[in-house]
Amino acid sequence: MFLVTGATGNVGRRVVARLIAAGHDVRAIVRDPSRAELPAGVAAVTADLADPATLRPHLDGIRAVFLIWPYVDPAVTVALAPALADVLASAGSPRVVFLSAASVEADPNSCWAVVERALIERDLPGTVLRPTGFATNTLGWADAIRAEGVVRWPHGAAARSLIHEDDIAAVAVEALTSDQHDRRTYVLTGPETVTQAEQVRLIGAAIGRDVRWEDVPPQAIRPMLAEAMGSPAFAEMALAAWASMVEKPEQVTDDVSVILGRPARTFARWAADHAADFA
Ligand SMILES: NC(=O)c1ccc[n+]([C@@H]2O[C@H](COP(=O)([O-])OP(=O)(O)OC[C@H]3O[C@@H](n4cnc5c(N)ncnc54)[C@H](OP(=O)(O)O)[C@@H]3O)[C@@H](O)[C@H]2O)c1
Repeated sequence: MFLVTGATGNVGRRVVARLIAAGHDVRAIVRDPSRAELPAGVAAVTADLADPATLRPHLDGIRAVFLIWPYVDPAVTVALAPALADVLASAGSPRVVFLSAASVEADPNSCWAVVERALIERDLPGTVLRPTGFATNTLGWADAIRAEGVVRWPHGAAARSLIHEDDIAAVAVEALTSDQHDRRTYVLTGPETVTQAEQVRLIGAAIGRDVRWEDVPPQAIRPMLAEAMGSPAFAEMALAAWASMVEKPEQVTDDVSVILGRPARTFARWAADHAADFA
């Protein structure tokens, strides 16, 4: 039995589907079972990472846990992460595959870094996955693409190694089901960098429409970004990261291909897979 948090999210939903397809039993953590759409055969259980003790009853008989962290506020995380790690340790220290973030390398005080340290301090076996940006982040442009065929955003020349959410899920399932990845940290990226302006062009190609990029100053999106991300400080960090990727493209690693034995999927492939979301 595997326990999956974030089971209704972009990555967790695919972790669940892949585990089920491989014949495993899955217990999915959701906050509201009446809203959760899960594949047949998945047991939905209610818990909330805001109160780590709510996970405890669902950990019995669990072989491994897929853990996401939904908070971007380091203060909230500092308050919650030790209790979460204690709950996991008290349940016999199952393997934990933690979906962290590559930004941990630049910011050791980020919320993901705090969770990583809490897990390591309890010596929980498992794997840390540090993806760069998710390709799904570009779904935030879908309304503008549908309405006008124009994306107005800063830093069109920022080169990102966005990753397909299903590649993250495939790596996560490898790490959940094998001890070969225990106590390893992987940086998961797409196979190449693609500028933001080029991402928009590739989305247009996938949906068979001309979609145009229009560079705007950061202040044009700052308030909207802060609201969407739930944190002005986090939005500021995102803007600074994009600005830096104009001069210094985001890193590309081969961790996905080494683990899966096939290359990570391109952004063009991701756009084709998600054409219906933009049309
Ligand atoms: N987007 C990026 O570029 C990026 C990069 C690096 C790392 N990450 C990490 O990846 C994680 C997963 O991203 P995603 O795109 O797969 O997720 P998502 O589609 O944004 O969905 C969020 C998931 O988190 C769950 N959740 C939210 N608050 C929760 C809480 N208090 N307790 C338990 N579950 C809660 C939601 O479940 P409900 O059904 O209960 O709402 C949902 O399943 C992010 O949280 C982030 O930490 C993201």
